[in-house]
Amino acid sequence: MQVLLVNGSPHEKGTTFTALEEVRARLQTQGIGAEILWIGRSVPGCIACGACKGKGKCLAYDDIVNEVIARAPEFDGFIFGSPVYYGGIAGDMKCFMDRLFYTGRHFEYKVGAAVCALRRSGGVATFQQMNSYLNLARMLIAPSRYWLAVHGNNGEELQEDKEGLQTLREMADGVAYLLKLKERAGLPLPTAEEPRQGTNFIR
Ligand SMILES: Cc1cc2nc3c(=O)[nH]c(=O)nc-3n(C[C@H](O)[C@H](O)[C@H](O)COP(=O)(O)O)c2cc1C
Repeated sequence: MQVLLVNGSPHEKGTTFTALEEVRARLQTQGIGAEILWIGRSVPGCIACGACKGKGKCLAYDDIVNEVIARAPEFDGFIFGSPVYYGGIAGDMKCFMDRLFYTGRHFEYKVGAAVCALRRSGGVATFQQMNSYLNLARMLIAPSRYWLAVHGNNGEELQEDKEGLQTLREMADGVAYLLKLKERAGLPLPTAEEPRQGTNFIR
């Protein structure tokens, strides 16, 4: 079983990375392989061209988004990490998540979790914003004991957020549990689906 941890910070080895590293280490003790991937510093946003429809990848830009889509079948679980910027997802990560999730159904019934790193305020809003992607993508969102918003301005400061680190480790345990549960149950995924009712509120 393999999990991909996506670092959506412009800092390759900052607070978000350190949070993901805590999760990665715990997953390893549970026998789960895990890889941290950095999205880099230049992810363009969705231009709403609609060209991805039915294609399963972004046709506007061939970048880290398509790389993750191509590798998605390798992974059973995905953990997304972002710093908090002005009470929301950081810019590059927002662009990354918009395009990744809009291009197709890459994550259905795969295990997922979101985590955000911040100095002081805006953690819950950002955590919930990130979870919206996972929820609409029909991911199995791993539990923990508290919202996954961890505090510090860098990796060193994060070490002082003992409760935050505990929350991360317990999320890793939740991810491992869901992965093992799925494997042991061996159930086929739900297939029957009603035709989409696309109702726009324009009247
Ligand atoms: C543009 C910008 C906006 C920020 N906005 C917030 C914020 O709204 N709330 C907060 O607590 N911290 C905020 N921060 C601080 C970062 O979230 C914090 O330093 C975090 O640990 C950075 O994680 P990283 O090292 O993974 O990039 C902001 C930082 C920047 C650069």
